[in-house]
Amino acid sequence: MNLKRSIQVEDGQLMLGGVSAADLAKEYGTPLYVMDEQMVRDSMAAFRDSMNRFYEGKGLVCYASKAFCCKEIYRIAMDEGIGTDVVSLGELYTAKSVGFPMDKICFHGNNKTHRELEAALEWGVGRIVVDNLTELAELSALAESKNQTAQILLRIKPGIDAHTHNFIRTGQIDSKFGLALETGEAMEAVKEALAAKNVRLRGIHCHIGSQIFAVDPFVHAAEVMVGFMGQVKAETGVELEDLNLGGGFGILYTDADEPVPFGDYMGPVSEAVKKTAAKCGLAQPFVLIEPGRAIVGEAGTTLYTVGSVKNIPGIRTYVSVDGGMGDNPRYILYQSRYDMILANRADEPASQMVTVAGRCCESGDLIGENVPLAAAQPGDLLAVFATGAYNYSMASRYNRVPVPPVVMVKDGKSRVVVRGESLEDLIRNDC
Ligand code: LLP
Repeated sequence: MNLKRSIQVEDGQLMLGGVSAADLAKEYGTPLYVMDEQMVRDSMAAFRDSMNRFYEGKGLVCYASKAFCCKEIYRIAMDEGIGTDVVSLGELYTAKSVGFPMDKICFHGNNKTHRELEAALEWGVGRIVVDNLTELAELSALAESKNQTAQILLRIKPGIDAHTHNFIRTGQIDSKFGLALETGEAMEAVKEALAAKNVRLRGIHCHIGSQIFAVDPFVHAAEVMVGFMGQVKAETGVELEDLNLGGGFGILYTDADEPVPFGDYMGPVSEAVKKTAAKCGLAQPFVLIEPGRAIVGEAGTTLYTVGSVKNIPGIRTYVSVDGGMGDNPRYILYQSRYDMILANRADEPASQMVTVAGRCCESGDLIGENVPLAAAQPGDLLAVFATGAYNYSMASRYNRVPVPPVVMVKDGKSRVVVRGESLEDLIRNDC
């Protein structure tokens, strides 16, 4: 196979973290999520080190755990010395369950529940990212009733078009997330937050979208956000400390993607932050970033067993696998494309274009259309690459197909980090 991504093949067998995909399938069954632990650690470390370099230690990487959330990923993030971003009580609870340092957590959400705000306060979350004025009032009252101080950032919509899929674009003005700059809503919120009881406004946050390859939108967002911090100082006399620029760094799904090495983002963005701060008479802010996909995406591979192969002459060939939209809803949601190969015949060239279909009772349940693949036979092992982000975390049990296990591989060894669901698990909550 001739792919842009580098893969390891030994005697025709795909190797993942030094373990053959066939052995993994034999030991754990399919479908199976496989995560290369070293790749995860390397990308966390690379983000951490480049933040330290470009911001002279005045910054923090907060892994966006919505991309892939389980106890082990928080343990690894802790071990690599980075923070995390959570967006629900479920994620926060999972992080807490392994002792994640609360001061390194950013808590997001455009409609946090009362219970979520309560937990954030009780557990001492370092940065609650307040989305709107309703939440600000609720949080302030809650903090007052508990005699605590809520540490907050305000979520701002900087109005940047990051040229990506509509569903995953969140920085433009027509977005359910955050406070608009243009309308004066953001400045009003800053003033309310500064006046609010039991609230400490640490800074501001933005997230302009996801799977972005261009550097410019990030630079532009940084300029707009620091410019706003300047305006805040001019209008209120208060200099905000934190600038959280969100995530969104694009990764390699297929050969069509051209990811930018993130040093290439970090350089120009940090320059924009520093220059704009100097221009506005501000000290260099403490900068946070929230990569999710870029940390776990390429580290994940999903293994499936091929079942039926159905050739409809003149139309297409369906290769059906034992998973599908349940474990990977990204095709049905976004028509996302993936590289895939037959893991048990990994050096065979692709000889046909196929449609890879899932097993759910839904015509749109596909993993890919017009996918180049070697001639697949029932029993072959299909490996789909770059499934580490937004696959396990967005999995469903449609048709009561259980969620597969997650296995981590490293140095020729494998271990389960999330057990696969059993039939018993599927009926556990049924009354
Ligand atoms: N920070 C905030 C506030 C976010 O909303 C997100 C993603 C991130 C960080 C991380 O973005 P990343 O670095 O992973 O691009 N389900 C979609 C992606 C939705 C992203 C939502 N927010 C997908 O499968 O592509």
